Amino acid sequence: MTSRTIAPAGRGLRGRLVVPSDKSIAHRALLVGAVAEGTTVVRGFQGGRDNRATMAACRALGVAIDERGETLTIAGAGFDGLRAPAGDIDCENSGTTMRLLAGLLAGRPFTSRLVGDASLLRRPMRRVIEPLGRMGAAITSEPGDGRAPLRIEGRALVGVQHTLAVASAQVKSAILLAGLQASGSTRVDEPARSRDHTERMLRDFGARLCGGELWVALDGPQRLRGTTIDLPGDFSSAAFLVVAAAVIPGSEIRLTGVGLNPTRTGLLDALAAMGAAIEVVPEAGASEPVGTLVVRHGPLHATHIAGELLVRCIDEFPILCIAAARAEGTTEIRDAAELRVKESDRVAVMAELLRALGVAVAELPDGLVIHGASRLGGARVDPRGDHRIAMAAAVAGLAGAAPVVIDDPDCAEVSFPGFYAILARAAGA
Ligand code: S3P
Repeated sequence: MTSRTIAPAGRGLRGRLVVPSDKSIAHRALLVGAVAEGTTVVRGFQGGRDNRATMAACRALGVAIDERGETLTIAGAGFDGLRAPAGDIDCENSGTTMRLLAGLLAGRPFTSRLVGDASLLRRPMRRVIEPLGRMGAAITSEPGDGRAPLRIEGRALVGVQHTLAVASAQVKSAILLAGLQASGSTRVDEPARSRDHTERMLRDFGARLCGGELWVALDGPQRLRGTTIDLPGDFSSAAFLVVAAAVIPGSEIRLTGVGLNPTRTGLLDALAAMGAAIEVVPEAGASEPVGTLVVRHGPLHATHIAGELLVRCIDEFPILCIAAARAEGTTEIRDAAELRVKESDRVAVMAELLRALGVAVAELPDGLVIHGASRLGGARVDPRGDHRIAMAAAVAGLAGAAPVVIDDPDCAEVSFPGFYAILARAAGA
């Protein structure tokens, strides 16, 4: 197995940095473009492995996608343009690919089978099987325990009202994509507001939706019209550089073209509460807000993260743990039980990583209590194939007093192609 050693930064992070395109939005541009009528052009695509799994899935369903540089041209022929796939659809490591496809395929008149890697096959799928089943879909968990492989036999769907037990943009999106094919009204109510990229994008494609803070509804069936989508930089990728700059003395970075959808930027609020100096400069965007982040090093102090704030920084949990480890005082992160069923059990794996770095941490069923340390030690880290754990470990190495060795470091490519090169360039290595 390959490994990579990240040594303590010799100086602060510097420069103007650009992160690759937003993974969440790119998945949606591909899937919605695939079922829209007419051409969809997606600009600024620099997707990693997860996005490429979605692109391959669309192609397996008979949709022609031309890739030239960073521009994708999708030849959509409506929902009825999708064709039965010749074999299994491999969603690889991507929960978004599998769950959104489940909604898209639930109403198509053919059978498909969704598979994935070992991590994805461990993740809960009942949360889409059950609500889509209430709409008339026939989705079977092959092992019978609510996990993939999933066998989807398309059926005529009817709109239903759903109340989600856990805030989830993936489940909400799967239901909306099914609702577009269903007869009657489909409505989703959430306990906290999850990211709303699907709602924004569907409107860009001409869909009619209505909604409020904690609900969204649409009447089906509806047809979508191909359009042009400009992808912003991924805030969740920027997050690793933001925290690195915030905790490494002498740092000052400018991250341009970053997506700043407020359902995603909870990390900025958490860091502001910790005393970080981050400037946000809006840039011209379309349906998604975009801007520049200017981040300088400064002392951080402990905070408490829970509830709706945790939902708005759901994917930033690993890197928030590193910020907490470098902050003065004791930070509590709660209401994070959902993190146990991400690409890895991120609560357990981060507890283990922090302990290896010499940080005192208590693991709770729904989060962590992290005692800030004046110094992070070296460690050898097995990220369990989880991209965000590997990148959090790399930032710990740069911000620590001794090297961190990361096994299987290339899992970072799942969401952030070129991560180590950008980090090294910013650190002047
Ligand atoms: C995502 C939604 C979130 C997030 C995931 C991407 C999306 O998952 O953690 O990385 O693109 O919709 P949940 O919807 O399960 O919370």
